[in-house]
Amino acid sequence: MDFKNIQIKPIAPALGAEIAGVDLFADLDDAVVAEIRRALLRYRVIFFRDQDFTPEQHLAFARKFGALVDYPMVSGLDGYPDIVPVVKLEDESHNFGGIWHSDTTYLAEPPMGAILAARELPPQGGDTMFANMVMAYDALSDGMKAMLEGLTAINSSAKGVVAKSREARQKGMNDVPDPLVAEHPVVRTHPETGEKILYVNIGHTVGIRGMADEESGPLLEFLFRHQRHDEFSCRFSWAPGSVAFWDNRSTQHYPLNDYHGFKRVMHRITLAGDVPV
Ligand code: OGA
Ligand code: MN
Repeated sequence: MDFKNIQIKPIAPALGAEIAGVDLFADLDDAVVAEIRRALLRYRVIFFRDQDFTPEQHLAFARKFGALVDYPMVSGLDGYPDIVPVVKLEDESHNFGGIWHSDTTYLAEPPMGAILAARELPPQGGDTMFANMVMAYDALSDGMKAMLEGLTAINSSAKGVVAKSREARQKGMNDVPDPLVAEHPVVRTHPETGEKILYVNIGHTVGIRGMADEESGPLLEFLFRHQRHDEFSCRFSWAPGSVAFWDNRSTQHYPLNDYHGFKRVMHRITLAGDVPV
């Protein structure tokens, strides 16, 4: 038996598993925490259902997996600076992060993961898709893998569509911050599993170091299209009490914007990561 303390039900061949048999917000013992972490590494995004918890309990659960980090663009909840509300209101047209992305890869140390909890959901819609970037890397030809080896991607917080999805949610609303920019390997190695990960994303990657835009553009467009193969993905339908925990190093996600006129409120806690190599 691989897992003794939790029950695992994969939701797609590529990635994603629902985990049952655990109350996340009870006092979890170390063996359960270790199995949850192992499940995260194996399935890359794990989901829990019917969890009932306060912001304090959300924070206490997240801290079992590492240090928490501030999200640079949006302020936290009143009294809980480490919990970021991810909200789309009835009259808004853009949703937060509404394009395929890995979170904040424009930082020198992008997060290890995030724990997102559903607080208020539209009657239908508002699912989130996830995709496996180890699988995306593995599916490339040997020739393409050789070409990508050693390339460095430039990631920016100012890419149009994403910046738009944050409009009016931004800290300090009126002062547009200078873009944050970070360079990371196009192919990174997972720090815990040693797997190779295709680490560019359409949300934040704007170029490749040492290449003209005319050169990097078509290459990145090919990689972005390649990453979107349905076969690399899974799709999660939220219900009240659902929680998702993703490995932000080896996955990307895409929140569907298909519930105009309704409100959706999620709470996110972000876990510290390391410098991609
Ligand atoms: C995020 C994000 C996805 C969603 O919190 O980083 O992209 O489904 N949210 O709201
Ligand atoms: Mn995101």
